Amino acid sequence: MSNDIVIRGLGRYVPEKILSNADLESIVETTDEWITTRTGIKERHVVAEGEYSSDLATAAARMALKNAGMKAEELTHIIVATFTPDNIVPSCACIVEEKLGLKHRVAFDIAAACSGFLFGLEAARAMLALHPDANVLVIGSEVVTHRTNFTDRSTCVLFGDGAGATILSNKGEGPRLLDVRLSTDGELGNLLTVAGGGSASTYKPGEAVRDDYFIQMQGREIFKHAVRSMTGICNEILEANGLSNADVDVLIPHQANWRIIDAVGRKFEIPAEKVFSNVQRYGNTSAASVPLALSEAHSTKFIQDGDLVMLTAFGGGFTWASALLKF
Ligand code: UT7
Repeated sequence: MSNDIVIRGLGRYVPEKILSNADLESIVETTDEWITTRTGIKERHVVAEGEYSSDLATAAARMALKNAGMKAEELTHIIVATFTPDNIVPSCACIVEEKLGLKHRVAFDIAAACSGFLFGLEAARAMLALHPDANVLVIGSEVVTHRTNFTDRSTCVLFGDGAGATILSNKGEGPRLLDVRLSTDGELGNLLTVAGGGSASTYKPGEAVRDDYFIQMQGREIFKHAVRSMTGICNEILEANGLSNADVDVLIPHQANWRIIDAVGRKFEIPAEKVFSNVQRYGNTSAASVPLALSEAHSTKFIQDGDLVMLTAFGGGFTWASALLKF
């Protein structure tokens, strides 16, 4: 564990277009009342025609660079967590590198679904241990709505598009990344799948996409595992650092569903006013959700100087993770 990693800058971006619960009422058989009481979500942002994950990622990166007072040229590594890259090849990270006007950096994607940003933080820690002068850009960026079946009411009301970014270095001023904990369980992989287009679920030229092209999930089962896994890995990281839940000033869980966020806060015995949530306005933006929430919590001063901030996420795989930050 290193105490020296500095969070130089935070950034975020969401596309302009908003899809409200009322809009969804005219697309599938649902109601604002059902969506609000079951998920807390009121609206989500959706990309415009021709707007892709790399565009959202680049916009979030530019905000993080501005926030850090850094030039893009200073970046050495670009890590993008996404399950909705523009293409399978080239990686989203390589496209972001190009869009930032850079060459000859180390750019790659991470696939850990909604936990991807936290997996990216851990990869950044490894990069910074190997390359002490590195400046690592970690982004979570998703166009989830392009992998959402808008005839399936059990999934299409949940997701939105967006991006969040952070820049990490061994030097400079800023909050500290204290520790990260990750875990996975492939046996639970069937709980959430996006199979179509993968090598186990191929398409022939001209063939129409099947339902497997879109997110398929077992909502109730995921709900249970989400609460259990996030609470467990938060306890683990606190214990490893000689801390307890009473030391946590701000908890930022993956923004999937307000009921999950609330259940984690309660199980963890953290007062509701210390738990950050913006799921109401963005829905579940998968790997973008935690960095988007972190950047927003910071710029709205929900996070104060000196705060101990705990991030936690869960996602398809099954993957789950936690991180501790000191502001
Ligand atoms: O990043 C990870 C991504 N996945 C998740 O985070 C999912 C976690 N799970 C959840 O958030 C919740 O399980 C859901 C919000 C997905 C569902 O809530 P639930 O309370 O577990 O409801 P349910 O799936 O058990 O469905 C209850 C009822 C069903 O009707 P019947 O069988 O009781 O008549 C559904 O058909 O609600 C119905 N339903 C809907 N009704 C109106 C399902 N979706 C809708 C909808 N509008 N959009």
